[in-house]
Formats: sequence, C-alpha cells, structure tokens
Amino acid sequence: MKKTILTGDRPTGRLHLGHYVGSLKNRVALQNEYETFVLLADVQALTDNFDQPEILRDNIFQVTLDYLAVGLDPQKCAFVIQSQIPQIAELTVFFMNLVSVSQVERNPTVKAEIAQKGFGETLPLGFFCYPVSQAADITAFDADLVPVGQDQAPMIELCRDIVLRFNRLYGETLTLPEAMYAQFGRLPGTDGQAKMSKSIGNVISLSDDEKTVTQKVMAMFTDPNRITGREPGNVENNPVFTYHHAFNTDKERVAELKELYELGGENEKGKPILGDVTVKRELIAAMNEFLAPIREKRAAFEAQPDFVWDVLQDGTKRGLQRAENVMERVRDAMKIGYFGAM
Ligand code: TRP
Repeated sequence: MKKTILTGDRPTGRLHLGHYVGSLKNRVALQNEYETFVLLADVQALTDNFDQPEILRDNIFQVTLDYLAVGLDPQKCAFVIQSQIPQIAELTVFFMNLVSVSQVERNPTVKAEIAQKGFGETLPLGFFCYPVSQAADITAFDADLVPVGQDQAPMIELCRDIVLRFNRLYGETLTLPEAMYAQFGRLPGTDGQAKMSKSIGNVISLSDDEKTVTQKVMAMFTDPNRITGREPGNVENNPVFTYHHAFNTDKERVAELKELYELGGENEKGKPILGDVTVKRELIAAMNEFLAPIREKRAAFEAQPDFVWDVLQDGTKRGLQRAENVMERVRDAMKIGYFGAM
C-alpha cells in the first residue's frame, strides 16, 4: 500500500514563492509515490480571522488555483476542505487532554505569531490551541509524511509527542508522522527578512503578473553597502542572489554573476562591471520564465470555476472517508465506540 502524505495551507490569500520553495515543489514531486491529502485549513485560518469568515470562500478558490497551476494533480491529490471534516474537530478535543498549556506556550512558532499579531490579553483560546488541532489534521488522515517549511517543525514535533502519548495510553492506534523539509530551505522576503510573509508584505505571489514581478524585484533589498555598484558586493544574505539560486535555470550565469558581484570594480569606461540593476534585470527574466507557465495554467483553471469546486468536493469526500476510518479506530481504542458504526 502507498504511504500517505498530508500537508496544508491556511487559505488566507494567494500562495507565494515562499510556499512554492518551502513545500509546494516537494508536494508536486511526491504526489506520484504517495497517496496525498492537501488540507485547505479554513478552520485554522479562522483562528485569527474569526471576525471575517467571508474571506474564506474566495481564498479557498484562489489557493486551489495555485495548487492546480503548479502541477498538483487532483487525480493524485485529494484537496480537502478542513471545516467539512468534523472528525478533525473530534480528534482535537481528545488530543487536548494529552497536551499541557506550557507545552504549547513553549512552541516557538506560536510564540512568534502571538507576538507578531499583538494579541496580548485578547489571545483567543482557539488560536492558542491551533497546534493541537494541526496535530489532529495530520493524524486524522493516517499521514506518514508531512512535507512542510522549516517554520512548521515545532508543529510536527508536538504532533509526534501527542501520537506517542496516545499510543502508549490507549494502545497502538495512530500513525507516527515524520516531517519532510525542502532541500532549498526557506526563501527570504523581498525585503531580505528571513521569511516571505503576506502579513509583512514582502512576498511575490505565484499569480503576480510580469509588471508586478518587475516592480517587486526592482525594489528588492540587496547589499546596502553597494552605493555606486563598484564596491565588492555581498551575495550572502542578499535575497537577489538567493532568488537567482532558486529560480534561474542558467546555473553557470548565476555563478558568473556571483563572482563579478563579489569582485566589484569598474570597466575601462569607468562604469561598474556589474551593477545591481543588471543582476535584477536578469532575475526578472528568470522569474518570469519560471512563472509564465504557472500563470497560464492558473488562468485556464480560473475560467472553469465549476471544475475547481468539483475537484474540491471530490477531494473532500475522499478525505472524509479516510478520517472516519481513523476515527473509528480512535473511538474503539478510547473505549467509547459504544454502538460500533451507527
Ligand atoms: N499551519 C500551516 C501553515 O500555516 C498550515 C497547516 C494546517 C498545515 N494544517 C496543517 C500544514 C497540517 C501541515 C499539516 O502553513
């Protein structure tokens, strides 16, 4: 039997290149070998958007377009809408007994998010508990493997803790999942910050058009010490070069650019040998080459909304079946399967 993958995204907006590098690329590569469930985590999105549930429907549609556009195949992947799987909520409640408050408090990803969102005293319990519910997302589908970005590492750790605890208490019932991280690591934002994030506003979306990509790349952070373009440049911590590595298929040219940039200096006409604008122009060309087929596929699917919603409904049904199978095992293990399957 094929092993199972479960991953997911919060549908709070269109997906960006950070999502692509961090996990979409991996998912596309793995969908042939694994039975894949991709969760559109609308319930999790509500934990910090509960006051505007109307954003979810369109965002689910947009994220699904992104999935289809990058090559996730609905024949191989079930796209599952989280809110339609009550088994996840059920499992979350059972898991809450197996986690301490301080365990969640220590979770560095949640800690950072709480600080960033400035919840203070108004921190909703639902948001605080989302790591527990994410553990349920993963286990409810019997996932063996979870391809995610590095920032999700503490979530998978917590999930593993819960699964081990559950199995010790109630007997071997749940599958112990493993995280799988992207080879490339994390893609920085256009401002050079460690993470591409919509709330920071430093993203390039998969659906950005040529003009937008051009504007965003031209405004990108580079080496702040290069004022005239003649100074020896720094390619480390320089997102322009990180993006060249990630998206430019002409590796020789990237190596050459890197060398010239580090060297600095001017030519016989007194002009910089390699100015930042040249490096950016070549990056724009490379990125648009990468994004062009994605944009084209996206537009084609966008023109068939009924097809997209059918894909979601079909995936959600497949997810529902899987989750109910797991929950029957869980209820039996917990001695609350009083009536069997009703
Ligand atoms: N927390 C993830 C994110 O913010 C999204 C997510 C929800 C997820 N459920 C999941 C990821 C289950 C992996 C597995 O990107």
